[in-house]
Amino acid sequence: MQINLLSGALGAEITGINLKNTSKENWQEINSLMLEHKVVFFRNQDITSDEHIELAKHFGPLEKHIYVKARENYPEILRIIKASDEKHQWGEGWHTDVSYNPKPTKVIILRSHKIPPVGGDTMFSNMEVAYETLDDKIKDKIKDKKAIHSSLGAAAFTENYKKMEGNGNLKEYSNIHPIVRVHPETGNKILFVNSMYTKRILDMDEKESNETLKKIFKHQERLDFTCRIKWTENAVAIWDNRSLLHQGLSDFFPGRGLGYERVMDRIAIEGDHPK
Ligand code: SIN
Repeated sequence: MQINLLSGALGAEITGINLKNTSKENWQEINSLMLEHKVVFFRNQDITSDEHIELAKHFGPLEKHIYVKARENYPEILRIIKASDEKHQWGEGWHTDVSYNPKPTKVIILRSHKIPPVGGDTMFSNMEVAYETLDDKIKDKIKDKKAIHSSLGAAAFTENYKKMEGNGNLKEYSNIHPIVRVHPETGNKILFVNSMYTKRILDMDEKESNETLKKIFKHQERLDFTCRIKWTENAVAIWDNRSLLHQGLSDFFPGRGLGYERVMDRIAIEGDHPK
């Protein structure tokens, strides 16, 4: 096995592990690499949808997206498609998947099918490092505080993207989570807010809440906390949704990445109540 670190902050590209091997031992190795590096990336892994599901089930019960229609015959798999003439893709902008849920996603396994020659990389930002390096005054201010996370409504998840379809649910969801959560497996502290879904700090006046969140968002999106995955077809990324932010870049510009389809299969594993 070879481990190539993707940046100084997080992420590793791994060779010498076969994801078609869905044994418990293989998964244990992958899980400990994921806990250490937060996102692990594997190329040349032509796994079938059934193998994708088998691998995911080792992490826990599979989650269905509350807004987006799943693949036909595969309710566990969400197909993320960017049409060739689209300039934007689903997943753009820094976020933690479904942080507005009572139990936000634990792990995501994303598998590439079609990739433009350039553009559409996925970026990740390490929220343990973001917490450690946060200004002490802000750390004091948010100690033991909670924040409200809200979804933007179903339309934003599907209507903005030509080839994504809603599942008919239009409800808006909000849940309250600690701003600093403790990782249930490693015990590490994580800065658990994101600019896409976190709306308000509770027990703080609105102005102060807005100013504090603005400072935190700016801090957690620092480039030195990030790594970047440059996709090829039949590659797989596995990430710990509890301890990082991510985004799929919409850098599809004319004469470069525009004019190509991007197709990914995503499986999400259910998380726990952040503590
Ligand atoms: C996501 O936000 O889950 C998708 C990211 C991507 O397609 O790169």
